[in-house]
Amino acid sequence: MKYGDLIQFEPIESVVQLRNADQLDAAKQLVSTYVISDEMAEKLTSLVIPDLQFDAPSDNKGLMVVGNYGTGKSHLMSVLSAIAEDAATLPLVRCAPVAKAAERIAGKFKVIRTEIGAVTMSLRDILTAEIEEHLSKLGVSFTFPSAATITNNKRAFEEMMALFHQKFPDHGLLVVVDELLDYP
Ligand SMILES: Nc1ncnc2c1ncn2[C@@H]1O[C@H](COP(=O)(O)OP(=O)(O)O)[C@@H](O)[C@H]1O
Ligand SMILES: [Mg+2]
Repeated sequence: MKYGDLIQFEPIESVVQLRNADQLDAAKQLVSTYVISDEMAEKLTSLVIPDLQFDAPSDNKGLMVVGNYGTGKSHLMSVLSAIAEDAATLPLVRCAPVAKAAERIAGKFKVIRTEIGAVTMSLRDILTAEIEEHLSKLGVSFTFPSAATITNNKRAFEEMMALFHQKFPDHGLLVVVDELLDYP
């Protein structure tokens, strides 16, 4: 008998790359392997999911995940974005109360995942370029005005979302940005 007959395991990726969750198979794998502590379950059900949902009016805000290397930020964002994108991931969530709470957001979003590298382009230009590129893949053709010509971004985002909703009236748009720390 070989050791390999006694022990079966999935090779561990030491670092999760957010973009992997673009593939449903990989996304499901990430959801099914994500261990949810009681503390994380509480944060997800009382803070994160209520903030992401848009079926009831609430003071929704962006979410910033802060933590040291290797603490599971990318894995967490992969799991949340996977659920938001496809309800088929819900049964794989390893914590029943979180799965239940996540029904509110499951499959309700088109998701843009992006990783920011160590580049000099302004954050605004990076994000708008990424959003434009991903939207065009979704069949939504929108060009943000160049930064030099506007005094605030709000109107451009409202116009972008109006166009998005013409194509996807029932969906939200979730933009997930990883590796922000590498940004100078
Ligand atoms: N809650 C968790 N359940 C299972 N694996 C986890 C969890 N949190 C982190 N990991 C694993 O730890 C490693 C580092 O996580 P990662 O998300 O890449 O960290 P970070 O993005 O914060 O640097 C990965 O292998 C990831 O799968
Ligand atoms: Mg990471």
